[in-house]
Amino acid sequence: MLQEAVALLKVRPGGFYVDATVGAGGHAAAIAEQLDGQGHLLALDRDPFAVSLAAKRLENFPNVRVMRGNYRELERWLDMIGWTGIDGLLIDAGVSSMQIDTPDRGFSVQADGPLDMRMDPDQPMSARHLLAGISETSLEKILRDFGDVKMAKRIARRILHARDHGHLASTGDLARAVREALPFVSSGVPDEVRQVFQAIRIAVNDELGALEACLESAVSRLKPGGRIVAIAFHSGEDRVIKRIFRKYARPRVEREPDGRTRRVWHPILREITDSPLRPSSDEVSVNPRSASARMRAAEKLPETQGENRS
Ligand SMILES: C[S@@+](CC[C@H](N)C(=O)[O-])C[C@H]1O[C@@H](n2cnc3c(N)ncnc32)[C@H](O)[C@@H]1O
Repeated sequence: MLQEAVALLKVRPGGFYVDATVGAGGHAAAIAEQLDGQGHLLALDRDPFAVSLAAKRLENFPNVRVMRGNYRELERWLDMIGWTGIDGLLIDAGVSSMQIDTPDRGFSVQADGPLDMRMDPDQPMSARHLLAGISETSLEKILRDFGDVKMAKRIARRILHARDHGHLASTGDLARAVREALPFVSSGVPDEVRQVFQAIRIAVNDELGALEACLESAVSRLKPGGRIVAIAFHSGEDRVIKRIFRKYARPRVEREPDGRTRRVWHPILREITDSPLRPSSDEVSVNPRSASARMRAAEKLPETQGENRS
């Protein structure tokens, strides 16, 4: 969805743009090309390996600044480089193929690796730390909330049984514990294993908290006419994006001091996509990992449209 994402961002030469998730730099290079030497792009990633790769790929674009940083602190990075407003922000959330395909990072459901799953390897909490001290109830909640895992209780119990018997040292052990909790043994990687890995990864990296903070900051720093384009890879991310867009694009109910409620119409954003855009079947056949992608976009309204209609 690279071309569609960049088209939705409506890049105009001279503008100030942020790619909050530079990864291997594919989207950033496409944005930089559209800037055509005029305007600026700040490209962020919390993963230092992604940052060095992207910096190399983007070295021929002098108006692109690649920085290591968590998009949760978007305002801090913007202040640091002296940008007050931005004309657009792209966020292509989640984990990258590079991260999944490096077993040492602990994201792969197929290859054995350490129980790590940190996007930022300097972050103190890894999957091993998370699982070392967690209660069954808390793990069950993580599996349910972040992985939509149906047999969350049973799987959480089995994972902690493995931990308490010294059999939870690697991602292979984690996948085995999940399989052992399933009533039927299926070939290949069962969905439950993928869902459990996703849930633990989201918890380790506080992905939904960071996404929400980034979108809130983007709404406040966006200039009128500026756009946010957000790509989600699972329903939890898409729910956060949809909620923030709707919070600023739709009427809301406010309570008066006398206790009465009133509907306030004070839009700050206009949703460009009513429902999320999905990749074409051609894209999915070339890149099967894109199958779960959902993209939404919103535009900041001119301030004059921010009147109250109650
Ligand atoms: C799907 S990949 C992005 C791919 C990229 N658009 C490209 O063209 O190659 C997601 C990237 O977001 C990064 N990421 C995830 N959460 C982040 C956060 N809170 N702050 C900064 N980067 C983050 C990951 O490290 C990963 O490199």
